[in-house]
Formats: sequence, C-alpha cells, structure tokens
Amino acid sequence: YNVPVATNEPIYSYAPGSTERAELQATIKKMRSEEIDVPMYIGSEEVRTGDKRSMNPPHDHKHVLGYYHQGGQKHVQMAIDAAMAAKPAWENLAWEHRASIFLKAAELISGPYRMKLNAATMLGQSKNAFQAEIDAACEIADFLRFNVGYMTEIYNQQPKSSKGIWNRLEQRPLEGFIFALTPFNFTAIAGNLPSAPAMMGNTVVWKPSKTAVYSARVLMEIFKKAGVPDGVINLVYVSGPDAAEVIFNSPDFAGIHYTGSTAVFQNIWKTIGNNIHKYKTYPRIVGETGGKDYIFMHPSANSKEVATAITRGSFEFQGQKCSAASRAYIPASKWDKVLKYVQEDLAKIKTGGTEDFTNFHNAVIDETSFDKLAKAIDEAKASPDAEIVAGGTYDKSVGYFIHPTVIRAKKADYTSMVEELFGPIMTIFVYDDEKVDETLEILDKTSMYALTGGIFANDRYAIDKLMKRLVNTAGNFYINDKPTGAVVGQQPFGGSRGSGTNDKAGSMINLLRWVSPRTIKETF
Ligand code: ALA
Repeated sequence: YNVPVATNEPIYSYAPGSTERAELQATIKKMRSEEIDVPMYIGSEEVRTGDKRSMNPPHDHKHVLGYYHQGGQKHVQMAIDAAMAAKPAWENLAWEHRASIFLKAAELISGPYRMKLNAATMLGQSKNAFQAEIDAACEIADFLRFNVGYMTEIYNQQPKSSKGIWNRLEQRPLEGFIFALTPFNFTAIAGNLPSAPAMMGNTVVWKPSKTAVYSARVLMEIFKKAGVPDGVINLVYVSGPDAAEVIFNSPDFAGIHYTGSTAVFQNIWKTIGNNIHKYKTYPRIVGETGGKDYIFMHPSANSKEVATAITRGSFEFQGQKCSAASRAYIPASKWDKVLKYVQEDLAKIKTGGTEDFTNFHNAVIDETSFDKLAKAIDEAKASPDAEIVAGGTYDKSVGYFIHPTVIRAKKADYTSMVEELFGPIMTIFVYDDEKVDETLEILDKTSMYALTGGIFANDRYAIDKLMKRLVNTAGNFYINDKPTGAVVGQQPFGGSRGSGTNDKAGSMINLLRWVSPRTIKETF
C-alpha cells in the first residue's frame, strides 16, 4: 500500500484580528465557563465513581474548569479486562483499517477539534496559543500521520526468499496489554503514548497526568470519534500506587510507554524486575524521562543568537519542556553582551494567563512545582556560589507564577547546574575562554541526563570538536540552535543516560518496540 505521504501540519499564527484567533478565544471563553463532568472511559462504559476532583487552570487556580471522577484499583483491573477483551478483534483487524482510524484522528485534530484541543491545553496546562498550537494541533497530528507511514514501512519490510523457499516476517502485536503513563507537558506526547502501541495492534490502559486530564479527555473523544473501538484505549484516572499495584502484578502486562520523571521510571523498572517471573512475556520498557539540557557557547559564537536561544529555549512554556535549556556555559569574553541581550529580552516579555494572547510566559503546572522552584530561587539568593542576574520573583496568589529567572553559578557543579528543576530557571556558568577543554570535561561529567543540548560556534573545527567531545551528552543535538522544538518526521526525539531508553518518539524505532516479529519459512 502507498499510504498518504505525511507532511508536517502547518502552524496557525493566531495573529491579532484573524478569524482563527477569534475562534480560539471564543472556544476558550466557552470552555472556561462550562464546569464539565469527566468520566473514565473503560471498554464501552463511561465510568463515574462520584469521587470528584477539580480541574483548575494553573494560572488561575481558584477557577474550576470541571470535575473528573477518580478511580481506584478496581477500575485499573476493569481497564485491563476491557483491553484484553478487545484485543483479539483489534489485532486481527487488517492493519490498513487501524491506519485509517488514526489518519482520521489526525484530520479531526487538525480540523474540527483543533480549537477545542488547543483550548483544553491552554486552560488546563497554561500554554499560550503558540505553544498549544505547536503541541496540541500540530505535533499530535504529525505523530499520527508519520507513524502511519513508519507502520507501513515496517509491515512492508520482508526478508529475501529463494526458489522453493518463501521467508516471511509477521509483525505480531505484543502478548498482553500496554500501559501508557503520560505527562502534562505535551498533549502530543499524551496522545502518542497510547496511540503508537494501539496502531501496531495492541490494546492499552492509559493513565494521564492528573494535571492534564482536560486535554486527555478531549483526545479520548477524538480517538472515539475517529473509530478507535471500545476497549482498545482505556482511560483511567487513578493514583500512581493504585495503578502500579494492579498493572505490574498482572500476568498480561506486556509493556509500558512512559514519559515523566526519572525517579518514577527507575521505580517502575525495579518493580517490573522484581515481578518478572509473573509475566507471560518480557515486558517492553520504553521511557523518556528527565533532562538537564544545555547550551554551550564557543568563543567564536554570536552573542545575540545565544541570548535568543536562552530566552526561547529556557522560558517558552515556562521551561517545562523536557528539552528546555536549563544550564549554559558562556565564555567570559562574551558574558557581558549575552547577559545584556537576555535581560533586554526578558524585560520585553509579558507574563500572565492564557486568555490574554500577548503573554509569552504563563504559570507553572501546580503548587508542588511552584514550591520547588521558589525554594531553588531562595537558595540561590542565599548562596555565596550563586547570583541572580535576572528575575528571581514569584507569586502564587492567583496562579503559580515563577518569573523567568537567570542564576549565575560561580561553580560549574552548583546544584541547579546539575539537578533538574523543570521550570523557568536558567543557570549559567561563565568559563575562562582559554579553558574550553576543561569546561567540556565538566559538562560531560555533570551530565547525568542526556536528552538535548545546543552548541553555538562559528568555527567549523570547533563545531566538529564539540560534536565529538559531547557525543554522549544528548540524544537530540543542535548546532547553532536552541535545544527545543524537535519536529516529528525531522528530528526523532529521545535521550539516553538518565533521560530514557532513547526509542525516539515519532520514528520506526519506537513503533518496532510494540511488535514481536515471527519469522516464517515455508518450503515447497
Ligand atoms: N518535541 C519537544 C521538543 O523538542 C519535546 O521540545
């Protein structure tokens, strides 16, 4: 088959006065006032437990967007049962029908559901219109369309045969169900983690982040409307311990597709290891976890370009992208200029809620995150090893606002040069221009994570040297660009070391994790 050729979904600009801006604003207004009731979706049932939890915009946390029904272990078991019941029909459905369903979902997202999914992401996760658009409209549609292309290539790849012998490769779904555990920071990732295994013929239990239930619910509505049959993707809102207790003790657990913190992933891995004798098959463990993503400026680089990369790479979506730059190494000869440009940029950007389309910067996701970030700022203020050179203020009275903050670290291993904070705090170490090699050594040594990194240089020998020296510090490596904004079909995404299994979201590598090939030799 030749499936439709995937191309990246064009990005709407939502320019002042445009019809698309008016439409998105009207959708936000309507959804803000609705107070929806959100059930779990298990098999053919909408499950309402009566244990209602409120959904609040992080930028306006006293406002209630609606309530979702929290479940428990019983509901996780119901979801597993529904997934296992749906499995025989789904895995025997010809793959082109599965492809068609997900292509239809992509059309719904880029067309009739675009505003609703964007608005849910803006209200529920405090993205601004541009950040929502590149995520909830474009990236998820791209994941679905490009994955259908990769899926086709996978099914079409066949071994050589010879006269009298026909060799075949049958790409079977995994034996059991897949658990998709999804984060708040990208609606696209929340959509990709259940849909990629489902596309390959698996059935899924999906637990979204409790801080992104609104957009998860809209995604589920889209999957249903596109024709994903009952039981193929089951959406439950349960606590982590309740999910873990049931999922990882089930003999039918066949794999996890995860994005979230490193600590949780490591615990999951240990639990799976301890329970390994219980499973019918070795579960596939696919995870993207933390990052301490960097910008390294070589003395040959342009200061303005580096400053722009810091402003955009560190502070877009409040630094809550797994790819966000959160540490930088700047040569002493360039420091004054880079700092001046960053301070000028930050003085221009506006902070505030989703509803005002002129805001660049918004609230962080919840109070736990706010408190952790505020503490890091206070520690920097008190430390002789750090100096706050921009921002440094915070306020949670209306929303969880941490203002874009730049810390200058006097030591290259200062806490926030090494540990992930996941918020709008950039820590910079200023190095001696003569000590590029020593600084690279420190960068590598302090890279417990290895997700993204961007180097800036205008000297080709320097670029070559940095690429080689930093080979294991980033799964997504950028030359003269900020380390965020990977595009599906162009820069497959994922990292190694503490950042995950590097199974590249939006690639054939990822989809191959959700099948177990059978080689068939027939002799005539
Ligand atoms: N695709 C997202 C980025 O690269 C994760 O920023």
